[in-house]
Amino acid sequence: MERIIGRKLITLEEVSSTNDYAKSIAREVPEGTVVIAERQTAGKGRKGRAWASPEGGLWMSVILKPGFVDPRIVFVGALSVVDTLADFGIASGIKWPNDVWVGGRKIAGVLVEGRGEEHVVMGVGLNVNNPIPDELRESAVSMFELLGAKIPLETVLNSLLFHMDAWYRIFREDPFLLMQKVRERTFILGRFVEVVEGEERILGRAVDVLDDGSLLLDVGGSLRRVLYGDVSLRPLP
Ligand code: ATP
Ligand code: BTN
Repeated sequence: MERIIGRKLITLEEVSSTNDYAKSIAREVPEGTVVIAERQTAGKGRKGRAWASPEGGLWMSVILKPGFVDPRIVFVGALSVVDTLADFGIASGIKWPNDVWVGGRKIAGVLVEGRGEEHVVMGVGLNVNNPIPDELRESAVSMFELLGAKIPLETVLNSLLFHMDAWYRIFREDPFLLMQKVRERTFILGRFVEVVEGEERILGRAVDVLDDGSLLLDVGGSLRRVLYGDVSLRPLP
């Protein structure tokens, strides 16, 4: 079976954001084209928040053309990171919907940007050998810090592309299987969380991730579905 993800690799020393670069070339390149940069000068997370991207980390974006719109595509990135970390002996979990955490700290994030049915750019930032900025010391971690040794970025990339290719296929052919895995890997289930969705703050227990990708919360006994939001863990009331 021919691999889709990583058919073509574009490697850059420096770029503002691999997502922005990928968006600018998306029309002209084949599906599965990957853009990687050694460092980003304006790496970004959701809602334009800054993503620290110094040299040593894996900052990449892949151009996908599934031909339909489905927000569950974000889980292709998150599950691929979880599997990649497992290849290096690191147990991690998904903080719904787009982060990967290890032992209470964030190691990776996924940022999906799209142009409707035309193409989707899926960016993945994974802290590998890069230093963690002081202000993120409490909340972020790298593979280097966990393993106590530098890992060749290329090895991490190969593993990530391999898993992404497999999950992307499953996303297209059997999204329910994808969601079953997401459910297994989402560590916030059963925990008390606060979700900020637009202007609203919702406090409740995360109960499930539904097949459509939304998060189900138990808010004081009534069930509430959340489509998108910022989740933080809260102590039990
Ligand atoms: P969070 O729970 O961390 O707010 P989020 O997914 O809601 O996650 P995003 O906007 O998606 O937030 O991610 C950007 C945030 O990630 C930044 O505000 C910062 O706190 C954190 N961050 C930035 N760079 C890194 C990095 N290299 N590693 C881990 N965390 C980072
Ligand atoms: C998040 O947690 O909000 C997602 C962070 C995504 C960071 C990656 S790094 C490669 C790609 N380029 C960007 O500017 N962002 C994503």
